[in-house]
Amino acid sequence: MYLQDNQRYWERGYTAPNVDSSLFRFYGRILKPDFPQLRGKRLVDFGCGQGASVNFLHKVGFDVVGVDSSSTDIEAGRALFPHVANRLELCDIDPGKVPYYGFADNVAIVTAVQSLYYLDDDHFEICLRKLADAMEPGGVFYATMMGTRCDEFYKNSTPAAGGLRKVDFRNDRIQVSDYYMSFIEDEDHLKRKFHLFKPLHIGYYAARFREDEGDGFHYTFCGIKE
Ligand SMILES: C[S@@+](CC[C@H](N)C(=O)[O-])C[C@H]1O[C@@H](n2cnc3c(N)ncnc32)[C@H](O)[C@@H]1O
Repeated sequence: MYLQDNQRYWERGYTAPNVDSSLFRFYGRILKPDFPQLRGKRLVDFGCGQGASVNFLHKVGFDVVGVDSSSTDIEAGRALFPHVANRLELCDIDPGKVPYYGFADNVAIVTAVQSLYYLDDDHFEICLRKLADAMEPGGVFYATMMGTRCDEFYKNSTPAAGGLRKVDFRNDRIQVSDYYMSFIEDEDHLKRKFHLFKPLHIGYYAARFREDEGDGFHYTFCGIKE
């Protein structure tokens, strides 16, 4: 009977601690199966927020450091995940003022989930180069970037300097104002943006939970440091 088959299947354990996060999908679909030799190596999570990914990546065996420019998020992360508190580092929001992110060298993996699109073209380039310079050849880089198909943000934005757009909208849940970000138009644009890495996998994720909200379309980029 199918229920017994399903029971047997699920009894093996469902090892996706946060099923909706693209980071866990990146780990399960790319990093773990295709790069077993990188397990235990140095990993930098850029824009780690409150550290959920750092906690997960530490648990599965990486020497991980999460960096974020928000002291609120870093403090919240340290309280939420005390066993990795010393792996959550506050950094300056200006990449030009940061010598390196997390580790000076021998970084095998960089992850940046929904965090690199808050930089204008010049700052993005400085930040990307710093991350790439600290990586060893053959290292894996993974980032998610908001696409112009993310209606609610894109349609409520206007052009600003440096390749950014100023987003301004309000609904019952959130208010976004004085908020600057960049959007990715298509896969070619994504590849140009991450030109320091050889593209390995290009993907996307999108979700909409209410009909009065837009689709949260994000591209995913996975590349190799040559
Ligand atoms: C949308 S949140 C994503 C957080 C986390 N990656 C996650 O998936 O939950 C964006 C994060 O990027 C951080 N951030 C924005 N600009 C940054 C910068 N220039 N340097 C470092 N962190 C930055 C913010 O503080 C925020 O925690």
